[in-house]
Order: sequence, then C-alpha cells, then structure tokens
Amino acid sequence: MQIPRWPIATEREKELIDEVLASPHWGGFHEIVARFEAQFAAAHGCRFGISAANGTLTLELALLAAGIGPGDEVIVPAISFISTATAVSRVGAIPVFVDIEPYTFNMNPSRVQEAVSAKTRAVMPVHFGGPLVDMDRIADVAARRGLIVIEDAAHAHGSQWQGRPAGSFGLLSSFSFQNGKVMTAGEGGIVLTNDEALAAKMRSIANQGRRPDATHFHHFTLGTNFRITALQAAVLVAQLERLPAQIETRTANACKLLRLLEGVDGIRWQQVHPKINRNSWYLMLGRVEGGAGRDEFCRRLREAGVPCSPYYPHTLYQNPLYRSSPCRVTPCPNAEATIADAFWIPHNVLLGAGGLMEEVAEAVRRAILRG
Ligand SMILES: Cc1ncc(COP(=O)(O)O)c(C=O)c1O
Repeated sequence: MQIPRWPIATEREKELIDEVLASPHWGGFHEIVARFEAQFAAAHGCRFGISAANGTLTLELALLAAGIGPGDEVIVPAISFISTATAVSRVGAIPVFVDIEPYTFNMNPSRVQEAVSAKTRAVMPVHFGGPLVDMDRIADVAARRGLIVIEDAAHAHGSQWQGRPAGSFGLLSSFSFQNGKVMTAGEGGIVLTNDEALAAKMRSIANQGRRPDATHFHHFTLGTNFRITALQAAVLVAQLERLPAQIETRTANACKLLRLLEGVDGIRWQQVHPKINRNSWYLMLGRVEGGAGRDEFCRRLREAGVPCSPYYPHTLYQNPLYRSSPCRVTPCPNAEATIADAFWIPHNVLLGAGGLMEEVAEAVRRAILRG
C-alpha cells in the first residue's frame, strides 16, 4: 500500500531554509519568525501570534499570561495528551478533569458547567483529532460562569466552526508543530490572541523579560527563552502555505473512505458537529463496537499496511502522576469507556492518491471481521 510519508518537505522548505542560512541570523530574531507568526495568526482569525519551542510551552505561556496560578482551577477534558493537564499543574494551578462526549471524543460542555467551583478560573477545550469542541456551548458556560477560555488547538490547524477558525474563540489559544501534526517543523508551537496587552506580556515572558522599546540587555519581568529558530519558522511558512490544499485532500479522502465503509458493522467513526465546516483531519478516530476486538483490529490493519494506533492507554487522571499531583476528578464514564475500544488512523493516510482509499476500506473491512 502506498501510504504517503509524513512529514513532507518540498523545494519550498529548502528555498526558505536557504534564505535563513544565507543570513547572519539563524535564531529567533530573524524576520521570518515574525513573518510566520503574523501569517499563522491571520490564517486563524487572530491579531497576534507568539511562537515557542513546542506546544507544551505555549500552553504554559497562555496560562501564565492569563495570570493563572496557585489557588486556581482549570477545567480540562479527561482525554488528551498529557500537556493539557501538566501545563496547568506546572503553573501551580489544579486541573479539573471532566468527561468527554462518547462519539465526538470532545469535552462535554454540560460536564464543564457542573464542574465549576468558586476556584475555577478557566476552561481548556481540546479540539480532539481536528473537529472543534461545541464552542457555542463552551462560550455560553464561560460567559455565565466568568471563565477564561484557553483553546488547546494542537490538533486543529485550519479547522473551522461556522466559518470561524479554531484558535479564534479563546482569549488565548495554543497550537503544536510537533512532528506528527498537520503542520510541523519537527517541534514548535504558537499562542494566538486578539488581546494586545496579553500578546506583549507573552512576548516579554518568552523573550527574557525584554520590551520592544528597550535594548537587548534590559529585562523588565521574570522571563525565559521560549524562542523557535529561524530554521523552524522557514519550514513552518512553507507548511502553512500547503495546509489548505492538504485539508481539501484529506477531507475528500475521508468522505470517500467513510462512504466506502457505509454499512460496515462494528465501527463507529468520530461524530463531527454539523457546524464544523472545515476539519483538519489530524486523526481519523473510531470506536470498535463491543470493545474486545480493538487491539486485534489495530494489529490487523497495521499488518495490512495501514498505520493505526489504539488511542490512549488511560485517561489523564489515571496516569501515575495524578495519583500524587493535586487534581480534581469528576465522573468520566465515557472517557473510561473510550480507552478500551477507541483507535486512530493518522492524517497522512488521508493524503493518499489513486485507489488508496479503496485499499484502506478493504483493509478496514477485513480487519473488523471477527474470528
Ligand atoms: C492536545 C495536545 N496538546 C498539547 C500537545 C503538546 O505539544 P508539543 O508536543 O508540541 O509539546 C500535544 C501534542 O503533541 C497535544 O496533542
């Protein structure tokens, strides 16, 4: 099977990297870093972008900018990559884990509402696999309970809810450019915001407490160095240019694959809210109905040449870390059920051409047959 490789680099990455290599600045002060930040922010309906070395640091940066720290609680989904929770813990606040919806795989806004306490300052929706959390309902809960919204949009580059881009709903939002993401420089991250003061605060924290109106060796706040290199930014400019066409290809292939698999029993695919008009398709998620066959299903698919992983082995709060690190856990029956039967197929499968979707559909059909 001809599964496209990931990551993909073309002459455009090389051309932009050469531009950087020919200059005397390979670090974060090359103008291509600011160029990338502005382009990525604009593509996601935001005024400001502050890049950083990875999408874990950008979550921490967003929380610091929002002034969240000891004594505060932040509501997060029970299923995500660990950084969603550890970023909260690392700024000294307490993650509050809430359940997901069984088939969108996203945080349930009703559970968010129920979990709010006097200490809750923020909610951190994760657009899991690409489709946005129901942002109308999150906005409603946040407005009524006075919560800050910080989107963890690490999976959702280019996704949209009723034409509005992921990353533009929160006071702050964070994206990752880690190797497997739909845009990558190997590592990298960015925080977006429309708030000028928060943008200035984050830029200063990420850049050793400097201010743009002062010289290089004047430091005003307790900052650090979160900067990406110009080489990373060069790669990301090229990756951003290619993102819309890749989303179109993935969408067409995902629709085709789901059509080919209509009527095949044993799998329920991720439900995408009708208000989501554009999906990054970072992951193609599903649940093997009946549960017991999930690992065997993944193994069979991999044997047939289709990459497939069995989701997370546990919820965030079931990690050994959260037996000792302070947190609050609300009942999460859906999250606990999905860890037993869910799987994902990575986005590069959906970049395939020719008859690949027919081949993948046939492999899925065979893999789901029991016995
Ligand atoms: C939902 C989510 N948030 C945050 C991150 C952290 O990003 P990074 O790996 O760039 O630190 C990831 C994963 O990579 C993720 O999947």
